[in-house]
Amino acid sequence: MPSAIRLAIHGASGRMGSALLALVRHDRRFELVRAVVSAGSAYDGTPLFGELSTSLRYAHGWDAAQAIDVVVDFSGPEGLSSALAYCTQHGVALVTGTTGIDPALDARLADAQKHIPVLRAANFSLGVAVLARLLRQAAAALPDWDLEIIETHHGRKEDAPSGTALALGHAAAQARGTTLEKDGVYVREGRPGARRQGSIGFAVVRGGDVVGEHTALLLGQGERVELSHRATDRSIFARGALEAAAWLVGRKPGAYAIDDLLLERQAKAVP
Ligand SMILES: NC(=O)c1ccc[n+]([C@@H]2O[C@H](COP(=O)([O-])OP(=O)(O)OC[C@H]3O[C@@H](n4cnc5c(N)ncnc54)[C@H](OP(=O)(O)O)[C@@H]3O)[C@@H](O)[C@H]2O)c1
Repeated sequence: MPSAIRLAIHGASGRMGSALLALVRHDRRFELVRAVVSAGSAYDGTPLFGELSTSLRYAHGWDAAQAIDVVVDFSGPEGLSSALAYCTQHGVALVTGTTGIDPALDARLADAQKHIPVLRAANFSLGVAVLARLLRQAAAALPDWDLEIIETHHGRKEDAPSGTALALGHAAAQARGTTLEKDGVYVREGRPGARRQGSIGFAVVRGGDVVGEHTALLLGQGERVELSHRATDRSIFARGALEAAAWLVGRKPGAYAIDDLLLERQAKAVP
């Protein structure tokens, strides 16, 4: 049996970090070697999973002597900056889901990708990545069909449409050789008039405890295609990030996306 992948979780005390810790504990592909928090974190030095079950503790910063194969980062831009410096210096693969990255950090990531493998994703759900892929195909194959995207989330969500709905819209628009800036329709109220051919409409539903649902409707004459994804558990992002980490280790330096993982799986599948 190949030896386990030595994994560090960066931002380990956060929502995503906790979800990753819970999964990795039962995942034999990985050996968790470091759970990194910020300097001054209330968690720094405290034991993981309860004192009795492990000697592993949350720790700030890095230990140059510790061997790590891959860092999974869900910390924030400042944290990502430190993880990036560590990974580049030590030749360690990096998976990051941190959002809100400014152009300077973006440029550093681009530079680091010349030296180490880096996989970034704004949404680590494998199901959403497959949905986007299917939608691109359907939008291009049915260019005259009306396209609408409906998303549903819990009532506490503040932004609308969701980032994922917009990403799906961008993917469909790109497949049709247009942009959301030109063809996206976000509001219909009063008498908006007949639907404009080629537009991509968004509809938003809010309520209850819905984790996240996205449906792309392709509406033709006398028939329709519906492509849907329903998330029932926030741990899907952590699951996707671990799949990405296992996949990324041993790759040559470069910029990778969830789609690369899916493409490889597809190519390996029995025709
Ligand atoms: N791509 C996806 O699928 C996806 C999904 C969910 C979230 N995200 C993104 O992932 C990031 C984290 O999200 P979250 O919801 O887990 O946030 P969160 O609960 O605030 O967790 C982030 C944790 O990182 C730690 N941290 C902050 N600065 C650090 C540093 N310099 N070094 C090490 N650790 C540091 C903080 O804990 P301490 O103070 O204890 O160190 C904090 O608890 C955000 O950018 C979010 O947008 C992406």
